[in-house]
Amino acid sequence: MTVHIDAKPGQIAETVLMPGDPLRAQWAAETFLENPECVNRVRGMFGFTGTWKGNRVTIHGSGMGMPSLSIYANELIRDYGAKTLIRIGSCGAMQERVAIRDVIIAMTASSLSTPSRGIFRDLNYAPCADYGLLRSAADAALARGITPHMGGIYSSDVFYDERPDLNEEMMRHGILGVEMEAAELYTLGARYGVRALAVLTVSDHLVTHEALPSEDRERSFGDMVEIALEAAFP
Ligand code: HPA
Repeated sequence: MTVHIDAKPGQIAETVLMPGDPLRAQWAAETFLENPECVNRVRGMFGFTGTWKGNRVTIHGSGMGMPSLSIYANELIRDYGAKTLIRIGSCGAMQERVAIRDVIIAMTASSLSTPSRGIFRDLNYAPCADYGLLRSAADAALARGITPHMGGIYSSDVFYDERPDLNEEMMRHGILGVEMEAAELYTLGARYGVRALAVLTVSDHLVTHEALPSEDRERSFGDMVEIALEAAFP
């Protein structure tokens, strides 16, 4: 047991899917896993472990933002032995060609800062996805008839952004979308030698200002869960 996870040893699978929202973790586990069992309830940050096509999987909330994700990912990796961590979440699109509901598979995650900033100091470390997972996720999306956008995203510390000039530079440099967790997940993956990936669907658009109606979010979220599961067990 850790400070933030009260699962017993062995109750967390080596493969962990991490949505931001713990209720999404519950929905995904109850919808896609066989025999899901709730293994964490501390602070309402639910984690569930079950099986998918015979493979053990945990689906655990990360909370919003890199400091929250960092707590759970650190404990899942260091104390529970997680070896494959896939974030499934939403993002805001930063390119006109990226549409609402599209899927982005993040090759890299740029940031102004992450919880690991104190380690890197003046180094501009480039957090990147695990290539094997990235490739399997792209194949899984294509097999479902979904053409994913592959490229760099921006992991921001703020949802209510006061830097339109910075967003413009991101867009000018090809960043596909903005979310708030992947850069730290990729950094932890590298630090501990485990596999990390972020699969995202576009819920809002920073160029056109469209937003996905809440009733549509579940379907896009379901596609992501299946892409992530197929990527983990190709
Ligand atoms: N900004 C940051 N994070 C997000 C956004 C956004 O516009 N949409 C979904 N996650």
